Amino acid sequence: MDKFVIRGGEPLLGTVHISGAKNAALPCMAAALLTDQPVILENVPQVRDIQTTRNLLAAMGAEVELGYGRAHHRTSIHCASLNSPEASYELVKTMRASTLVLGPLVARCGRARVSLPGGCAIGARPIDLHIKGLERLGAKINQEHGYVEATAARLKGGEVVFDKITVTGTEDLLMAATLADGETILENCAREPEVGDLADLLNKMGARIEGAGTPTIRVKGVAKLNGARHRIIPDRIEAGTFLIAGAMTGGDLNIAGCDPTHLQAVISKLHEVGVKTRSNGDSVRVMGDNPFSAADMGTEEFPGFPTDCQAQFIALATQAEGTSIITENIFENRFMHALEMVRMGGNIKIEGRRAIVRGKTPLSAAAVLASDLRASASLVLAALVADGETIIDRVYHIDRGYERIEEKLKDVGAQIKRIGEMFPKKAVAAK
Ligand code: EPZ
Repeated sequence: MDKFVIRGGEPLLGTVHISGAKNAALPCMAAALLTDQPVILENVPQVRDIQTTRNLLAAMGAEVELGYGRAHHRTSIHCASLNSPEASYELVKTMRASTLVLGPLVARCGRARVSLPGGCAIGARPIDLHIKGLERLGAKINQEHGYVEATAARLKGGEVVFDKITVTGTEDLLMAATLADGETILENCAREPEVGDLADLLNKMGARIEGAGTPTIRVKGVAKLNGARHRIIPDRIEAGTFLIAGAMTGGDLNIAGCDPTHLQAVISKLHEVGVKTRSNGDSVRVMGDNPFSAADMGTEEFPGFPTDCQAQFIALATQAEGTSIITENIFENRFMHALEMVRMGGNIKIEGRRAIVRGKTPLSAAAVLASDLRASASLVLAALVADGETIIDRVYHIDRGYERIEEKLKDVGAQIKRIGEMFPKKAVAAK
């Protein structure tokens, strides 16, 4: 299993280019199931969850070409015919976002059989709201042997009020409603930019969606959808991760190819901590030369502070003067990274959904274990400021959602290596 070895202490200097958003590309790839025409997606990130989605769609009969290396990471997906509208446990257990195929399959094929995702490192994460919503649109649901089976001759438009804001739940129902008979109104929807990006693609495919990005989305069902070409939005969580990295290392980093409007909550929290930033068009410059002061933070749905940047913010809080109280409001078990940072010398106490971080405490290098995607990113950030060489195990987690992170970090001055290759000894000057 790959590991990262990171020697801390280098300020990050220069420009890092942000990739396309994993959490927009996944639903957009699932949306291709809704049509028998080709869908072309550009700016698709080269991360493992995209390959898993490719395998998932191919297993149903889709032709998928991941266009890595080609212009704009252009990926084409053609679901001319789908011989097996099913998502197996083998695939769903590696990536719970596989459940995003449920709505599109029952809408297009009248039948879908999808493995239930089971528990996850960060929380129970049930999909009951996805299922309840499909039932509201007339699907017949049967759950047995760890699978949910949804059937409907044709879904019927209706009103769906989500008991709780759910990102993939909103996306799943949005896709299902595009081919339903009549109008659907979705209430209490997620407003994440990834939902808006999916709606843009669907409207290019001929759907009739209004209100994406607001709590109420209206969808007028159509009989058929067409192919389309669409560019995936930049990854705001990757951008947030590099913003915090630039600040923590006392660097001067330009985050290029991002959308600053998607980062407002992160940027204003950084200002509160004492970090300087300057937004300009599609880039944000971060300058971490001031001492940091502690600030409380609570994760919220968009436009609030993203839970996917909570772990990275905890790493920053260990380097801030004073006590920061960080409250995780979205997932019930998302502090695994904090316990690993304590091993590096962080002063962090967990009380239920709150992490109490006292700083500033110098971090020292240690061998640590990544438990999930964003936890592994936060350990990389902690290692960048720690004294010595940190070894992070199980970095396969980070490969799920960050494109070539060690190369991007190395390009701006970090001392990071993917293990299998120890640090090359400094060349001894010829005598
Ligand atoms: C999406 O997950 C993201 N994943 C997550 O990013 C992100 O953390 C999360 O939204 C919150 O922003 C993708 O987009 C692929 P939710 P999702 O449904 O949709 C509860 C990353 O690191 N809930 O909005 O699965 C749920 O348990 C990942 O890239 C139900 O109770 O999250 C949670 O407490 C991690 N029943 C809350 O709602 C349901 O049917 C919000 O979850 C659905 C959700």
